[in-house]
Amino acid sequence: MENKHSLEQQLSALFTEELAEEAQEKMHKYNKLMAYYRCAMMEVETKLNVLNEEFSLRYDRNPISGIKTRLKKLPSIQEKLKRLGVPPTIDNIEEHLSDVAGVRVVCSFPEDVYMLAKALLSQDDITLIAKKDYIAYPKENGYRSLHLIVAVPIFLAHEKRIMRVEIQLRTIAMDFWASLEHQLRYKKDFQFTEDMAKELKFCAELSAELDRRMDALRELVQEDGKPSEAP
Ligand code: GTP
Ligand code: MG
Repeated sequence: MENKHSLEQQLSALFTEELAEEAQEKMHKYNKLMAYYRCAMMEVETKLNVLNEEFSLRYDRNPISGIKTRLKKLPSIQEKLKRLGVPPTIDNIEEHLSDVAGVRVVCSFPEDVYMLAKALLSQDDITLIAKKDYIAYPKENGYRSLHLIVAVPIFLAHEKRIMRVEIQLRTIAMDFWASLEHQLRYKKDFQFTEDMAKELKFCAELSAELDRRMDALRELVQEDGKPSEAP
């Protein structure tokens, strides 16, 4: 009897040891994947900073007002895989999700959004996977931004890996609207009324008008970059 008991104990210890090892291995694989995504975001951020630098030398102004990067958190990853009906494995994260690595680029003018997207996509190590132009075609609620999913290589000591990154490009006005809309939408225990949604959409249109006017001013300033001729 005592023998059996000790065998059971030994087996269970072995079992938990195996489980712990498996969990550790998975954790290691997950952490490695997240590190690769961080590297991919760094690559994209550097490319954008280089373009900003070059542009500011050439035209004496910065097209980028700010860049933010974010790595999707594990609960959001799990929730999205569930929503897609895909088993929550580490391989499935890479295979099915395109927005684990996110880079948000806030630009000065609408024209800068397209100029930067074009310059970035023309680089020979960047591949465009998908594009959603919510500036030309705003979402029903008024949301505007240019979304790109790109594949970018990262160079490790012994291998090259291609990672996907979601890039959101928007103007300061678009970012202002999206940040406030996000805050309002996720307010706990509050249901948006139809009137509020309409008002929010109206605000989006006002901010788009502001962008158009500012862009027209930019054009005048840029065209007239040289001193005006004497009368
Ligand atoms: P997700 O499953 O949410 O990633 O949607 P999707 O795969 O259809 O991608 P989409 O390009 O439409 O949106 C992706 C991201 O854009 C979101 O995670 C937000 O950061 C941003 N976004 C999209 N729609 C809105 C919106 O209506 N308001 C705000 N504030 N942000 C939005
Ligand atoms: Mg998303």
